[in-house]
Amino acid sequence: MAQLTILEFPDPRLRTVAEPVTEFTPALRQLIDAMRATMYSAKGIGLAATQVDVHQRLLVMDVSNEQDDFQVFINPEIIQRSGEQIYEEGCLSVPSIYASVKRAEQIRVRAQDADGNSFEKDLEDLAAVCLQHEMDHLQGKLFVDYLSPLKQAMVKKKLAKQRREATASVA
Ligand code: NI
Repeated sequence: MAQLTILEFPDPRLRTVAEPVTEFTPALRQLIDAMRATMYSAKGIGLAATQVDVHQRLLVMDVSNEQDDFQVFINPEIIQRSGEQIYEEGCLSVPSIYASVKRAEQIRVRAQDADGNSFEKDLEDLAAVCLQHEMDHLQGKLFVDYLSPLKQAMVKKKLAKQRREATASVA
């Protein structure tokens, strides 16, 4: 399965607002398969289509330890939320950066599966964090946007340094 390229912050394409999925085609299934392979290969627990430069409301996730609970959410909407939790988040589009973000502790999501069937699911703890994080991507939002301007500047500096070092090591 072909791997997709993951866009990295501050790539402006990560700011694109995704459009609803309207057609449940074999091409959509292929995209889901490629996103699954890309997420597992990058050792991520979630991946939004936005991150692979596909601007449709689609995300995949698997928060299990065994990586045996693959889930796809198409056109997801949070229809209930309660509680608060603060979790140290990371993101495949913001490599090696971790920061605490406050989000709802329990959510109920309504979405469609790969065949277009609607379903509702209750998520809590890490699964709720992950879904909220991935849904932000579909709105062009990143977890670093929740940080103070000073911390955001530090993140940009650190990423630029990482890139310079990566370039130097292959030069
Ligand atoms: Ni992310």
